[in-house]
Amino acid sequence: MRQVILSLRTKFILSFLAVIIIGGLISLIIGSRLVRNTLIAQAQLKVKHDLAAAWMVFNEKLNDIRQIVTLTASRESIVEALRGGNSNLLLRYLNRVRTDFGLDILTMTDSSGKVIVRTRNPQVVGDDQSQDELIKLALKGSVVAYPQIISGEQLLLEGADLAAQAFIEFIPTLRAAPRAQNFESRGLVLKAAAAVLDERHHPVGVLYGAILLNRNYEIVDRIKEIVFKGEKYKGRDVGTATIFLDDLRISTNVRNEKGERAIGTLLSAEVKRAVLDEGKAWIDRAFVVNDWYITAYEPIKNVEGQIIGILYVGMLEKPYIDTANRLMLTFTAMASLCVLFLFIILYFSTTQIIRPLQKMVVATQEIARGDLSHKVEIKTRDELGILAASFNEMIEQLRRANEELIEWGRTLEKKVEERTKELTEMQAKLLQSEKLASLGKLAAGVAHEINNPLGAILIYSHLLLEETPKNTPSYENLKKIVKETSRCKDIVKRLLEFARPKEPEMVPTDINETVDRALGILEKQALFQNIIIKKEYDQLPRIIADPSQLQQVFMNIIINAAEAMNGQGTLTIKTSLDLEHQKIKIAFTDTGHGIRPEDLSRIFEPFFTTKEVGKGTGLGLAISYSIIQKHQGTIEVQSQVGRGSTFTVILPLRRESSDDGKNSNSNN
Ligand SMILES: Nc1ncnc2c1ncn2[C@@H]1O[C@H](COP(=O)(O)OP(=O)(O)OP(=O)(O)O)[C@@H](O)[C@H]1O
Ligand SMILES: [Mg+2]
Repeated sequence: MRQVILSLRTKFILSFLAVIIIGGLISLIIGSRLVRNTLIAQAQLKVKHDLAAAWMVFNEKLNDIRQIVTLTASRESIVEALRGGNSNLLLRYLNRVRTDFGLDILTMTDSSGKVIVRTRNPQVVGDDQSQDELIKLALKGSVVAYPQIISGEQLLLEGADLAAQAFIEFIPTLRAAPRAQNFESRGLVLKAAAAVLDERHHPVGVLYGAILLNRNYEIVDRIKEIVFKGEKYKGRDVGTATIFLDDLRISTNVRNEKGERAIGTLLSAEVKRAVLDEGKAWIDRAFVVNDWYITAYEPIKNVEGQIIGILYVGMLEKPYIDTANRLMLTFTAMASLCVLFLFIILYFSTTQIIRPLQKMVVATQEIARGDLSHKVEIKTRDELGILAASFNEMIEQLRRANEELIEWGRTLEKKVEERTKELTEMQAKLLQSEKLASLGKLAAGVAHEINNPLGAILIYSHLLLEETPKNTPSYENLKKIVKETSRCKDIVKRLLEFARPKEPEMVPTDINETVDRALGILEKQALFQNIIIKKEYDQLPRIIADPSQLQQVFMNIIINAAEAMNGQGTLTIKTSLDLEHQKIKIAFTDTGHGIRPEDLSRIFEPFFTTKEVGKGTGLGLAISYSIIQKHQGTIEVQSQVGRGSTFTVILPLRRESSDDGKNSNSNN
């Protein structure tokens, strides 16, 4: 599975949005419930008020009937006609009242409750109505008006058309409670009864009038007009009213699918149980005929307080639901808009946070690449600013440490180089002195052995020379023998000088003076006649040294220089004081032929010479070197072939005598 890598910004935005969206969804769900419930609760409150208004319409109608009946019963002419037994007049008179006031029934009984005039069905008279509760009460002198159920037979008496109007076949609906019959022949009426009284206030008869509510839509339509003002929603009545006989719709403006009034349908079982059986009011949503309504049901009671029917008002739930849905839709749209805005704001605000971080990332990458000069440019004063400052500080320190390391590496290299050079030099010197030492031993041995025989040869050849007359060939030959033997003796002497050097006699010595003395001895010689000598003397303190040995060294160097210049050139002698290193330097610079680089390392070797045989022994510099060594000094050479050489004698600035180096070669 591939792991998705999200940028910091995306994570930021996603987590913010997640919180907002989840919160939004929860509040949307809760909000929609709340809105819906509030709206429904309001609707229920309204429907409750509407039911009260419906009752007013209902009772107004009952009151109308009561008033018509009361007024008619109390008319003088009616009383007269009744007392006079003039039923034809009564019939005519009452019939006009019935038709004028739109009553379905208007009937007169005598004082025993026997019908004497039945305006709607004049042929049928003489039946006894005294068992009727309302008639009973009227006969006792009261004026009563109540809803009442009238049986089919009774309705037939009042008029066959009425019985037909009342007859309703049931139309099955889903939620209805089952009934034994599948039709209803009884009728629900609003009925009023009043006694007709004589002068002494004795009842002489009872007048009762009624309207049949089965298939009579006057009340329900009036309720619709007055209470709901004929309001419609998508072509359908919002407000509906129904009158039930028991659980049967006998008068309604609830329409079925065909748009017909839904009479003949039965009440749903649960409402029936609550209202009819338990006598409670029902205010809730209910499925009426074919749709959901917010409804209010209340029982209709007869004079005895028995529940005989129900008055219902209901409002289509749909407009409320739609309103709630519309509200939620608006809310959702607004919330989505808010999320969008929030997203944009988040996008830009996170940019503010992310940008410094991105700078840091770039900086770390630069640093990883080795650019330690990179700086994070964040000027904010928040945590990021502090972070950037510490970051820069860290990089600065890193840079400094790095520089130190590089510097250290560089000096280390130089130091190693210097040290290596020193070591090589030391090794070379060591080699040199070892070589000198071993050569010295050899030379000393040979010289020692040769020295005595040579002495004897010289003495005897001298004696022979004295005895031989001059100007003879023998004399000349002997002279040559003496000369060459002397030369041998001289070489052996120098050899022994080198191999077994005398101990220096250390005394305070003026170096400039010593150089002058050496020059003084040499200057007169023919070799120096054409040599310009330049002296560049520094003021020097006296040092502890052997002046005669140093003089010998200086002479050796000066002679070598003169020979290198073939007796023609400039010899510059420069003495100087190096206080810093506590040294005295005596430099002899000639303009001679110089020394070849390959010879440079060998010139201090005994017997190394470039001069022709018989001219140089190659011991001059070897002896000089060993003398200077005994003085704890060195001789340095710089030379360029064809241009000249500089021999520099370097001596320590010693103001007191020292035993160092004494006896170093004394065994040889
Ligand atoms: N100033 C100089 N210029 C050029 N070459 C020099 C100089 N000094 C010394 N040399 C070289 O160094 C060699 C050794 O010198 P060194 O004095 O030891 O011996 P030498 O002069 O040859 O003989 P001698 O024993 O008579 O001094 C010389 O043969 C010469 O080649
Ligand atoms: Mg020499």
